[in-house]
Amino acid sequence: MHNEAAMNFKKKITCIGAGYVGGPTMAVIAQKCPHHKVTVVDINKKRIDEWNSPNYELPIYEPGLVEVVREARDRNLFFSTDIPAAIQEADIIFISVNTPTKTYGEGAGKASNLEFVEKTARSIVEHATSNKIVVEKSTLPIRTAEAIERILKTNEKGLRFQILSNPEFLAEGTAISDLHNPDRVLIGSHDTPEGLSALQELVDLYAHWVPRERILTTNIWSSELSKLTANAFLAQRVTSINSIAALCERTEADVEEVARAIGTDSRIGSKFLKASVGFGGSCFKKDLLNLTYLCDYYGLHDVARYWESVVELNEWNQRKFVNTMLHSMLNTLSDKKIAVFGFAFKANTGDTRETPANIVVRELLGEHARVAIYDPKAIPNAKIDLADLLADPQVAPRITFCSSAEEAADQADAIALVTEWDQFKTLDYKKIYASMRKPACIFDGRNILNRKELFEIGFSVFGIGKPPLSHF
Ligand code: UDX
Ligand code: ADP
Repeated sequence: MHNEAAMNFKKKITCIGAGYVGGPTMAVIAQKCPHHKVTVVDINKKRIDEWNSPNYELPIYEPGLVEVVREARDRNLFFSTDIPAAIQEADIIFISVNTPTKTYGEGAGKASNLEFVEKTARSIVEHATSNKIVVEKSTLPIRTAEAIERILKTNEKGLRFQILSNPEFLAEGTAISDLHNPDRVLIGSHDTPEGLSALQELVDLYAHWVPRERILTTNIWSSELSKLTANAFLAQRVTSINSIAALCERTEADVEEVARAIGTDSRIGSKFLKASVGFGGSCFKKDLLNLTYLCDYYGLHDVARYWESVVELNEWNQRKFVNTMLHSMLNTLSDKKIAVFGFAFKANTGDTRETPANIVVRELLGEHARVAIYDPKAIPNAKIDLADLLADPQVAPRITFCSSAEEAADQADAIALVTEWDQFKTLDYKKIYASMRKPACIFDGRNILNRKELFEIGFSVFGIGKPPLSHF
């Protein structure tokens, strides 16, 4: 059935990399373009098996994703490890492999590791037998398209590859609605007849569901740099409000009131002004460091330091959260039990890449506290992130993973809320208070809880950029 149907497909689209970006993006393309065949391939067999799981136990959690996969899988959406076959049959290939920050050599700690991208380009050259459009989807430093192109041009089969840049702006936790209803789709191409005709093909693909006026086209370098810039601005905005939150904590000001007041200025806008324990996620830090590296590379050292300071201040902000705990709990956390509510870097995802929780937990353990961690989706990733500590016999006994918030809070001295999961808003805090050691504190790293109510129950309540409500 699969093969028969495949012959009738109008176009064949392959995506290399079945992760947080490739999986949801391709699922939505397949959903919206049932006459095209979409195949997502990955070197990681376990991941592909999970995408194909009969019970839809997919490798990533994203609201609405299962429904889309259920609709399209085996109709025109396929997941496979047969990378050569998927390359061969494709008209359009998306590259959506991971690009972690380099850990070695030049640019270590800053530049992107393009090893996986380069390997992917080489596989395309090796297995392609016809001309193709190659779309760069991973978050990549500017001028990566050039590098990919150089590899693609090494083919000795006379094939022509057109490269496009089509950065992804979806945010985790809202990926499906972001894909269904994007603010914009950005596509960069070369200004040559072949480049522009490839561009048109991709525009037509998105136009199946995105209004054409929201599909922006630019030159390839602007497209690449726009992605880095968007993430740098967003990260800077969170850090800006967090820096003001720190000042609020020293004064009588309330950061939420300040955010509301400045957010009504239409030039500033009201979104992305939630003070927090700090930003996390796979993109912000990586892209800021990428930008820093690029600026240094081009001799713009002052500009580099400007963006680098956003990363540094974010790390300071994450540590500040634990410092507040320490100072509010009689300057010692030694042997105190801290319930950590949430480990994901934001709500509605199981992703823990660059999560503030990781720093918070490590700082707490550094203060000899005991931590009891609960997260509705992120515990498997938390165990991987903390593997080094779990292997250390001195530290491991001080870490527990819990299957509910109540279990984590039982006999705890304090709650540290790190992720803004909705379920934390509606817990029975009276019951939780009764089960905790006294004096009981709550540190709300996301300002989502009802402070007054908690204070009246008996908690001492500390938020971000909020005057503390303390019983002592
Ligand atoms: C981000 C960009 O939003 C997206 O366009 C890009 O494609 C990938 O990077 P993501 O990392 O998934 O998406 O999440 P985002 O919603 O941007 O949040 C990033 C971090 O900032 C999270 O840790 C979040 O909790 C934090 N944040 C966000 C705040 O602390 N306060 C805010 O007001 C907004
Ligand atoms: P992102 O958030 O950018 O989507 P992920 O790490 O979630 O990043 O996904 C990237 C995927 O790319 C991983 O599943 C990884 O196995 C896959 N990948 C990396 N290199 C290759 C390659 N050479 N060929 C195919 N897949 C690859």
